[in-house]
Amino acid sequence: MSVAESGPSGLRVLAAWLRDANTRFAAWFNRVTPKGLYPRSLLIIVTPMVILQSVVAFVFMERHYNTVTRRLSAAVSQDISAVVALYDLLPKDKDFTELRRVAWRNLALNVTVLPPDPLPPPGPKPFFSVLDSSLSREIGRRIQQPVWIDTVGRSNLIEVRIKMEDAVLRIFAPRNAAYASNSHIFILWMVGTSLVLLTVAILFLRNQIRPIENLADAAEAFGKGRDVENFRPRGAREVRRAAIAFLEMKRRIERQIEQRTTMLAGVSHDMRTILTRFKLELAFLEEGPETEALKKDVDELAGMLEAYLAFARGDPGEQAVLTDMAALVEDLRLNAERDGAIAQASFMGPPLVEVKGDQLKRCVGNLVNNAVRHAARVAITGTRDARWLMVSVDDDGPGIPEAKREEVFRPFLRLDDARNQDDGGSGLGLSIARDIARAHGGEVILADSPMGGLRATVRIPV
Ligand SMILES: Nc1ncnc2c1ncn2[C@@H]1O[C@H](COP(=O)(O)OP(=O)(O)OP(=O)(O)O)[C@@H](O)[C@H]1O
Ligand SMILES: [Mg+2]
Repeated sequence: MSVAESGPSGLRVLAAWLRDANTRFAAWFNRVTPKGLYPRSLLIIVTPMVILQSVVAFVFMERHYNTVTRRLSAAVSQDISAVVALYDLLPKDKDFTELRRVAWRNLALNVTVLPPDPLPPPGPKPFFSVLDSSLSREIGRRIQQPVWIDTVGRSNLIEVRIKMEDAVLRIFAPRNAAYASNSHIFILWMVGTSLVLLTVAILFLRNQIRPIENLADAAEAFGKGRDVENFRPRGAREVRRAAIAFLEMKRRIERQIEQRTTMLAGVSHDMRTILTRFKLELAFLEEGPETEALKKDVDELAGMLEAYLAFARGDPGEQAVLTDMAALVEDLRLNAERDGAIAQASFMGPPLVEVKGDQLKRCVGNLVNNAVRHAARVAITGTRDARWLMVSVDDDGPGIPEAKREEVFRPFLRLDDARNQDDGGSGLGLSIARDIARAHGGEVILADSPMGGLRATVRIPV
């Protein structure tokens, strides 16, 4: 039993809250972080870099910059207190030439002696200035007389006024003598180098990620039955291994399909030869009711064989091209009407889709044929959004009971043997339709139609 379960209810509530917060944080984190491999890897590189640099910059600012500024302003205030001492020591001639000369030459301070007016009121303190605070502190420590300081007024000078007994000393000190002014160069260097590093990282990452993207594209295209053009294994060893494995797999699948097709075609061909011989022999027989029946059987067998052959031939290497699905749907509607059904058709969304046009027409056509055979009214509805192309064929016929909906896809399986033996097909229509849909990476789905019969939907990723 865990602490959370055995503990007092407060603890349990806290544990539940923490769990909840954790789940919500994970969901939020998943939502805000990018999904792609490329931005993710960039983030993995950039985040530590930014954090590291911020910490370094902060420590530098905090420590180095403050220390240096404190020391520099201590030096300036020492100079100023020297001037104050000198003022007392040196003979007070008319212009205080001696004092001013020493201050200017040796201390780089510009000193003026003003009449002993009261000091101006203290100016507004800059909100965030290390210089102002540390200079005030240092001067206050060293000079007993009242002092007025202005670090803001002039851009590159600091003005300090000191009230002596019989005068006011006004001293200008160069601003950059009092604080570490060149720290921005450090920041510049830091930002500059990180930009260079980032550029290099982006370039390198691009080259590492592209092979993975290519592999994903190739696998996706193969899954949709499209051509995988000039795809070659590239990039890091693992990516290359995956690409080689994919190519191997693709080759194996293609070889298997080819073998199946050849074998089936071979069998059908052999049987057709024998059937032809049958027909010939039948032709030499006397006409009669038995031969009539035999002839009919042979014809039926030949028809089935043809259909089988067509099925086995399967994908005759048609290329996927941009096909106008709206036109295709309308074509099928016309065919359905010609076959005596009341048909309507509609298409929504951008109609140009990259598919094997003839194959897909055969696929949906089979569904429409079924509908026409079993029902009087047919509706063909096409929609296409960002992910899927869907064509539904609705009818008002008897439909297919739910339990049989998987079974009917089996080749040569027909449910309506009893219903209408003669005009039934060979039982291959749905198998072929599913085959074609799957070759496009899609599926054929059977469901109940709002019209009362069957709804057969072809769904294909675009
Ligand atoms: N729209 C439908 N309404 C009722 N039953 C259907 C419908 N579509 C198909 N079926 C049933 O599913 C069975 C299999 O259909 P499938 O298209 O594979 O073969 P088929 O139509 O009999 O022959 P083929 O299409 O090769 O001429 C059909 O025999 C029929 O019983
Ligand atoms: Mg059919």
